Amino acid sequence: MIGVPFDAYGDQVRVGIVGVGNRGTRLLEAMLQFPEVRVTAVCDINPPRVHHAAEMVQATGQPEPARYSGRGGHWQTPQENYELAVHHSKLVRAGTRPDPDADDDYRALCARDDVDIVVNASSWEWHHPVCMTAMLNGKHAATEVPLAMELEHLWDLVNTSEAMRRHCIMLEQVVYGRTELRLLRMAHDGLFGDLLVGAGGYHNEGRAAAFNSTGGTRYPEGWRRRWWYRRDGDFYSMHGVGPVAVYMDINRGDRFESIVSMSSPAIGLTAFREQHVPPEDAGWNDPPYIKGDRTLSQVMTAKGRVIQVSHDETVPQPYTRVNWLAGTQATFNDDPPRIFVDGTSDNGWDDLDDYGHYDHWLWEIDAPLEEHMFRRLFQTMRLGLVPDIDVYDSATWSVQIPLSTESIRRGNRPVRVPDFTRGQWEEYRDGLDRPNPEG
Ligand SMILES: NC(=O)c1ccc[n+]([C@@H]2O[C@H](COP(=O)([O-])OP(=O)(O)OC[C@H]3O[C@@H](n4cnc5c(N)ncnc54)[C@H](O)[C@@H]3O)[C@@H](O)[C@H]2O)c1
Repeated sequence: MIGVPFDAYGDQVRVGIVGVGNRGTRLLEAMLQFPEVRVTAVCDINPPRVHHAAEMVQATGQPEPARYSGRGGHWQTPQENYELAVHHSKLVRAGTRPDPDADDDYRALCARDDVDIVVNASSWEWHHPVCMTAMLNGKHAATEVPLAMELEHLWDLVNTSEAMRRHCIMLEQVVYGRTELRLLRMAHDGLFGDLLVGAGGYHNEGRAAAFNSTGGTRYPEGWRRRWWYRRDGDFYSMHGVGPVAVYMDINRGDRFESIVSMSSPAIGLTAFREQHVPPEDAGWNDPPYIKGDRTLSQVMTAKGRVIQVSHDETVPQPYTRVNWLAGTQATFNDDPPRIFVDGTSDNGWDDLDDYGHYDHWLWEIDAPLEEHMFRRLFQTMRLGLVPDIDVYDSATWSVQIPLSTESIRRGNRPVRVPDFTRGQWEEYRDGLDRPNPEG
């Protein structure tokens, strides 16, 4: 699926959306800005959310979308819902066709004739079965981050995208940031010289948000927190590694070859619960949390470049994605964005705004990241162009999740990163800094 364009959808792209919680509602709002988008179906296991999403669609003057609120099976507890997702992954891997429960859930949405692309913003465990089902029904899939949590699921999505000739795109909005796109253009212009080192991470303190009684509103109850007792590792690599992969032309001339990971002790969530969470909160029934508070990984590329990838959600600090880049001619550090260019920056760091002439054309409009991301997705679909982010990029920016777990499990040994492109990474191809096709 490298270099494969979309069919040209013209002035109408029909969207079915699965998962309209916090993020899905925001994505829906962003998509509805685009006149070419028709939302024909909405699905969530929480009926009031389906109702709200359908009202949002109708408020823009579009016809009422089809509604699905089936649970895809029987479950009572959040853990059983997780196990149901694992079961659906197994069914879809085995090629099993929908059962009677499928009439009212995401599988029915995926089977509709009036859906071109399924947008998925459900919880992590559901990404694999939803995207697989979408593609097996002939639909493109666009999923919230990460693409999937398990290595074999990433391969499934690559293989199914190829077999069905459908795109499977991770909705990674941060690569559309103003700073990130500037850096890409600067790197391609040679301002950094030869790229050497990068760093990216996801540091977003969310202890209170993890527990229902301290403000967590995630459903089914604390699905995200529950990963903290399932395993150790980096659970959210793509926001950090994605931009650095783009600067370094990963899958377009270089590739990730190996990863080694380590985690700090796992203390933060347990300590927070002790201090702030009332005894009636369901979080007190959790098994011990084993995910280290901060996970650090080093990724080595085929060209010998090194990238530090980091993840934590339980360490007190302001939000950052780190975003550092260094080459033989320049160094960039984010938060605040500052750059040192050899021979030019005589007085220390320069403000990145001094390099505003590197702005990407998307930033002629000052818009939220989701809207830049969807502007490009729907533009490439309307015009029949190659998407900016393909299934190989999506898998490559997510694979640190299972492999960091594997490295830690093996006593912090390096683990080989698979080549999802099967050798095609060696060839350069255009990426996110392509010119505006409608410019
Ligand atoms: N890109 C970003 O900046 C960003 C920000 C926040 C969240 N996210 C991602 O968005 C996704 C959702 O996160 P959230 O914070 O909105 O969580 P959430 O719990 O608010 O929303 C998830 C929704 O999915 C629904 N759901 C779960 N299983 C389902 C199923 N089988 N069928 C249909 N609906 C189902 C839930 O009922 C819920 O409404 C996650 O993958 C998360 O990583 C991305």
